[in-house]
Amino acid sequence: MTPKTFRIKSFGCQMNVYDGERMAELLAAEGMAAAIDGSDADLVVLNTCHIREKAAEKAYSDVGRLRREDGSKPLIALAGCVAQAEGGEAMRRSPMIDLVVGPQAYHRLPAMVREAMRGARPVDTDMPAISKFDDFPTRRRANPSAFLTVQEGCDKFCTYCVVPYTRGAEISRPFGDIVAEAHALVDAGAKEIVLLGQNVNAWEDEGRGLAELIRALARIDGLHRIRYTTSHPADMTDALIKAHGEVGKLMPYLHLPVQSGSNRILKAMNRSHTAETYLAIIEKIRAARPDIALSGDFIVGFPGETDGDFEATLRIVDAVGYSGAYSFKYSARPGTPAAAMEDQIPRELMDERLQRLQKRINAHQLAFNRLKLGLDTQILIERHGKHPGQMIGKSPWLQSVHVETDARPGEIVDVTLVAAGPNSVTGALRRKAAA
Ligand code: 5AD
Ligand code: SF4
Repeated sequence: MTPKTFRIKSFGCQMNVYDGERMAELLAAEGMAAAIDGSDADLVVLNTCHIREKAAEKAYSDVGRLRREDGSKPLIALAGCVAQAEGGEAMRRSPMIDLVVGPQAYHRLPAMVREAMRGARPVDTDMPAISKFDDFPTRRRANPSAFLTVQEGCDKFCTYCVVPYTRGAEISRPFGDIVAEAHALVDAGAKEIVLLGQNVNAWEDEGRGLAELIRALARIDGLHRIRYTTSHPADMTDALIKAHGEVGKLMPYLHLPVQSGSNRILKAMNRSHTAETYLAIIEKIRAARPDIALSGDFIVGFPGETDGDFEATLRIVDAVGYSGAYSFKYSARPGTPAAAMEDQIPRELMDERLQRLQKRINAHQLAFNRLKLGLDTQILIERHGKHPGQMIGKSPWLQSVHVETDARPGEIVDVTLVAAGPNSVTGALRRKAAA
């Protein structure tokens, strides 16, 4: 008997969220239904992340917790990057796991579920060059802001990172497929599309780059906003920068990780930029789109990082004036070059540096939010807030905006930004804009 209900738990990045949505659509096409919140599911898919800290251990303990009080358990699928990294080993480490499916093999999930029901314990962590996307059903449901994966994998091999191993080489989806999926998402109610890729700005198809793709998507009626994430400085082409100044639907927000402000550490990380070349890119982007909100990723405590290196990171945070940024303690990932480097940094020092960095980033975030006070702008409503009548949406600069309105998710409303906190902004409604 095939499972009747399923639950997909996605951890980690937005690409996992996207993959989770696609797996849900595949299972629904097989006649299964998403389990209602709080209820038991016949099939649980753990869509795991391997980027930092004890990821595999966490996944195994999550598996263990799926045992029910009466000793029974759902059918368990280990998916995502831990599945890719562990492969068949997962079956040996946890007898509770029924199938292991890597990120490039999701189209095979329904067949693997059937095999598992027959008592096999299938493992598929192949990384075929042909794309899994071809076998996914057409999109029929979409959030107001919908994810669309256009590119996967990474060829950059930063010395700390597992992605080139778990997601494989850079591969771009074909232009036509992406445009078709974007149309389907808009027909299903999406007002904004967020193009996703580990190196989204490395996307290319027959000589076209991300800038051309964005310009093509901007021609879709009913699509109001376009974003993309995550970008690598090496692939920040002039054409893409130019698009920021010319394509009205392309939102003024860019996530462009620098990782460190120290050239010595950047070199050891095998990043292809220096602090100076990174800042030069930022300058070009600001020239094209002066109000752009900039965000990034940082790693503190990379092997060999001195106080001086860390100070350089604080300096680049000040130089850019980020509207927000993610920062992480370095985590040695098995099999990566940095894990074997000497001079690993003690945990306490990493904790201290992370706190100092986050304080600095938060100060810039608050300053950015305050800078926008008094401004008239538009908010894409995404969900209900805590209080009755309160809705939460996003400004063009990706700020979370709280607003009192009877507008529904998916509507775009005109507001004036009237109050700013570190993590969100308050908007006062002006009048309803056409959605
Ligand atoms: N340790 C800490 N942070 C990491 N990241 C990637 N690998 C590691 C690691 N081993 C961070 C980087 C990257 C983000 C997605 O995760 O900042 O940009
Ligand atoms: Fe990892 Fe570097 Fe590739 Fe980003 S660019 S996915 S950090 S290897």
